Amino acid sequence: MNRPSVVVILAAGEGKRMRSATPKVLHPVAGRSLVGHVIEAASTLEPLHMVVVVGHGRELVTEHVNEIAPWVITVVQEEQRGTGHAVRVALDELTGRDIDLSAGPIVVLTGDTPLLTGATLVGLMRAHVEAGSVATVLTADLADPTGYGRVIRDPSGSVARIVEHKDASEVERTVTEINSGMYAFSADQLRTMLGRLTADNAQAEEYLTDVVGLLRADEQSVAASMCSDDAEILGVNDRLQLAQAAAIMRDRINARWMREGVAILDSATTWLDVDVEIEPDATLLPNTTLRGPTSVATGARIGPGTTLTSCEVGVDASVIHTWAELAVIGARASVGPFTYLRPGTVLGEGSKAGAYVEIKNSTIGDGSKVPHLSYVGDAEIGTGSNIGAATVFVNYDGVEKHRTVVGDHVRIGSDSMLIGPVTVGDGAYTAAGSVITDDVPPGSMAVGRARQRNIADWVLRRRAGTASAQAAAAAQAVEQAQEDL
Ligand code: UD1
Ligand code: CA
Repeated sequence: MNRPSVVVILAAGEGKRMRSATPKVLHPVAGRSLVGHVIEAASTLEPLHMVVVVGHGRELVTEHVNEIAPWVITVVQEEQRGTGHAVRVALDELTGRDIDLSAGPIVVLTGDTPLLTGATLVGLMRAHVEAGSVATVLTADLADPTGYGRVIRDPSGSVARIVEHKDASEVERTVTEINSGMYAFSADQLRTMLGRLTADNAQAEEYLTDVVGLLRADEQSVAASMCSDDAEILGVNDRLQLAQAAAIMRDRINARWMREGVAILDSATTWLDVDVEIEPDATLLPNTTLRGPTSVATGARIGPGTTLTSCEVGVDASVIHTWAELAVIGARASVGPFTYLRPGTVLGEGSKAGAYVEIKNSTIGDGSKVPHLSYVGDAEIGTGSNIGAATVFVNYDGVEKHRTVVGDHVRIGSDSMLIGPVTVGDGAYTAAGSVITDDVPPGSMAVGRARQRNIADWVLRRRAGTASAQAAAAAQAVEQAQEDL
């Protein structure tokens, strides 16, 4: 296949209808920006160069493009004087850098079509080469073509010109074949015609679409490649279309994983980012969101009601109603419900983080359990240990964070406070309700609590006449009667 010399992606427009402080092309769909999706699809063509034309929000867009695709060149279009002008600015910049534009066709795309696929672009290139034309337009047949440029064909069926909706006559507006805004051009012809564009139209802009009419006037051939899937060319202009694109992308991603053997019980509420990896026979229950480069191993069950960001889930693990970020969940580990795993959490094989447990920057060894109502921060817990209900790893003295080390086969009693820095040795116990401030040697029982004392008849004296006093008196009377027998 012919490699394009350049793919130009237009992204200088304001995207006013998004009503957002964020530039339109930076809005995400499935964890990737709109322009990121277009760059990804265009990369399939292996162009010699790729350019993104930036204008509105140029600092943010440029920074983003440099981050996700450093090989892409960004070119600034100072004023948005139309799509034709934008392409001209891009090509002038490349010429200025001594880049040979004629090394292959030039492909033009827009930055707001996240559903475009590499396969469709390959189809466009193939159509372009097979037709031997100087321009090939990717078109679609839409039930409602309102707003789009219409593809006007001559009696022989070849593309005569493209007319923008705003400039179209009543008759032209009945045409349902529309211009997707994606094209392949022969480089030299495109450059020539860009130089001849005028802004003599309803929007006073240099329309890239007018290149088609100019080429035909010059007796050059223009082809069209009709796209079978309308979604591919769906441009995102407002929040509604953003949500539509996200839903279509969700279905596509889920369909892919289901085909690969992943059980997805409710596709409509399962949201997977593009960088997620899932092994066959994993199960995703309803309301599950997997973000960033999250991976899920075979046999794992995720959800319902779980959001994992950049997490790694091991074989046969279970993660129910959990919010986790940058956490590693070991094989056969059990997490949830209502569990919060923060960055740096590493749960060993067969370990447990149960209900109402928060863990941060801590390692929980193989087979160790934090079953209920606990906070574990900056800790290292060995293997086979049990952390009793409502234990707090007190890691913060108000200024600094301190580490706590708990050994193997330790039993931390319920409601213990482990005041870091502190170490509890292998096989040690702590008594329930203890405040542990000193290291506990291996095998010791640490008791760190005041002894209980009972002040006899306090309620009868100090709360006389209350229901409590009456209940106490009645109980004492029964006891007395039993003693008297
Ligand atoms: C354009 C096409 C129309 C097509 C439609 C498909 C033209 C004249 N019309 O119309 O035939 O049906 O796309 O979606 O090309 N941009 C720049 N600089 C500019 C102007 C635009 O970078 O000076 C960028 C925009 O950010 C956008 C893209 O080019 O990504 C398209 O511009 P837009 O104004 O949205 O064109 P449409 O009116 O949608
Ligand atoms: Ca548009």
